[in-house]
Amino acid sequence: MTPSPFSAVPGLLHGADYNPDQWLDRPDILARDIELMKKARVNCVSLGIFSWSALEPEEGVFRFEWMDRVIDSLYDAGISVDLATPSGARPAWLAEKYPEVLRVDREGRRHAFGGRHNHCLTSPVYRQKTALIDGMLAKRYGGHPGVVLWHIGNEFSGDCYCPLCKNAFREWLKKKYGTVEELNRRWWTSFWSHTYSSFDQVDPPSPLGETSIPSMQVDWRRFSTDQCASFIRNERKALRQYAPQPATINMMWSFLDYDYAVLAREVDFVSWDCYPRLKSGNNLMVLSEACMNHDYMRSLKDAPFLMMESTPSKVNWHTVNQLKRPGMHLTSSLLSVFCGSEGVMYFQWRKGRGGSEAFHGAVVGHDGREDTRVFRDVAHTGEMLEKLSSLKGAPVDPARVLILWDQQSRWCACFAQTGLGGRMDPLPVLQSHYLALFKKGVRVDLKGMDADLKSYDLVVCPETFQFREGFAERLRDYVRSGGHLFHTCFGGVVDGDDLCWLGPTPHGLTDVLGVRDPDLDALYPEEEVCIRLEDGQCFRVDQICEYPEEVTAPRILGVYDSDFMKGTPAFTYAPFGAGGAWYLAARPEQKGLDAVYGRILEALGIRGVWPRPLPEGVAALGRGQMVLVANLSGADASLGLEFPLTDLLTGAPVPDPLPANACAVIRKEDLKHA
Ligand code: GLA
Ligand code: ZN
Repeated sequence: MTPSPFSAVPGLLHGADYNPDQWLDRPDILARDIELMKKARVNCVSLGIFSWSALEPEEGVFRFEWMDRVIDSLYDAGISVDLATPSGARPAWLAEKYPEVLRVDREGRRHAFGGRHNHCLTSPVYRQKTALIDGMLAKRYGGHPGVVLWHIGNEFSGDCYCPLCKNAFREWLKKKYGTVEELNRRWWTSFWSHTYSSFDQVDPPSPLGETSIPSMQVDWRRFSTDQCASFIRNERKALRQYAPQPATINMMWSFLDYDYAVLAREVDFVSWDCYPRLKSGNNLMVLSEACMNHDYMRSLKDAPFLMMESTPSKVNWHTVNQLKRPGMHLTSSLLSVFCGSEGVMYFQWRKGRGGSEAFHGAVVGHDGREDTRVFRDVAHTGEMLEKLSSLKGAPVDPARVLILWDQQSRWCACFAQTGLGGRMDPLPVLQSHYLALFKKGVRVDLKGMDADLKSYDLVVCPETFQFREGFAERLRDYVRSGGHLFHTCFGGVVDGDDLCWLGPTPHGLTDVLGVRDPDLDALYPEEEVCIRLEDGQCFRVDQICEYPEEVTAPRILGVYDSDFMKGTPAFTYAPFGAGGAWYLAARPEQKGLDAVYGRILEALGIRGVWPRPLPEGVAALGRGQMVLVANLSGADASLGLEFPLTDLLTGAPVPDPLPANACAVIRKEDLKHA
């Protein structure tokens, strides 16, 4: 077994983004920070994320003394450092002297200095300058016992349309297609006479130019992902010469720009920034979406990950920036741990006095005090994480269900102009499938099309629009040898080049499902189409549906109940080899999907981690020897416990009813008797 990337910190990680470079003229504040960190039970901070201008105030003039002092003082206080490379934002001198580092937008405008996360990923100067400073940081701190992790850049995103990037795109295409004839064939450029006669004619997709070739748009996303991967590789190479510590990048929520499955290969562990839109009242859906992202991050490497950022109170960029309600801080933090996070990290430790994040939540506010609700919440969470330290490195309960989250397929669906006019992003569909399982306490993995399917009892393809070459065959083999598939509408339509498969859809699966798909139908929001299940239960379709042309599946579990397709099968099951496949012809409203999963899980004997049906709005997740039960309903929830269970967090019996926003941790052993 490879050692855990987090082994240098005893226990689960607890800490925050720390920006002492904003307070270099206030040594008193820096001293106070350490005192407060100890009180908040902080054991690791992310340092130097945006410190470039403090580290290299002029080209070639380096100032590391302040950072030496900070790292040493933290180390003396027993606080480890996740040290960042400063590539997330550049100093003004760099932009002034080398304008090529500034990004050019889709309309061809080169942006002026300002902001962050907006450099050209191709620029040789930017790569050279980041490698230089990274190498110096690595040389100076690679052997420091207090530096335990590396944090490369910050929240990589976006793309650049400058001449350097344009040229790199053309080279990338040449490598992929070899000849321009091959590119024309695989992009279907005979459409609207868009045929190229040379690679030099190909510009990136732009609203001022080409947007009518979806295959090109998908390739542009793949190219941008590859540019980002090679940018990260360049930084890692600079670190590696001197610094052996594990490195990560901090990823983001349901992100569309790049394929994280590709970027995950460039790092030692996955980390991400989690900012759910919490509100007073019921947060089941919001936190189910957060957990779906946690589970996706865990699945990227099939390994524990780190929640690198979360807010201790509120953010400053939602439309409504609400404080966390009492209890919610611990509960939302522990949900991440029970999805496999090795700790709870925040943005930010201390609020700055100026800049656009002066009003973003922080552990320490402008008053600098510890007798605040937020500070107490954070310190309490730190204390609870210490109690749960045996979870460090423990695997989450193995998932029997895989939901396919394939970024490339998602791009293809997003660029397809059909159904809902360019709004066919499958993400809300994934969320709705995940929510149905989350409500039942069933653990899920989320992986792309290359996943090994064997270990799952159920593979769900929710609107998996793209079936890359070989995927249908792998699904067939999986089902034939005893696996179960749940396939929905708008699946198996295009190939690896984003060209439509010829022949019946879903491609390669019509005999497995016993269904031949027709064209997709879409409904106006005010139109109502219903599906009726065998037991008479009816639910509405949510805007998207298909009416199968031909159904040979022997089990019809639900039919359309309205409009011209009344009586047409909408939910079916067909045995195939040693396994079988369900097909659902529409996007259903949530209660419909809940009912559908009720039947599927029952047929497969898949049960949630909670020994009985979970009360409305309550979630349960298992990791190691423990189970977290969390009340996300916004109101007291009766657990119906027949005898007292001990809450490992308090040592007292689990309160029943469990108050709104509260959670408890129970030994699995104890639950067996519940
Ligand atoms: C992101 C960034 C941080 C900070 C937070 C604010 O996650 O990585 O630097 O801006 O958002 O929520
Ligand atoms: Zn560029």
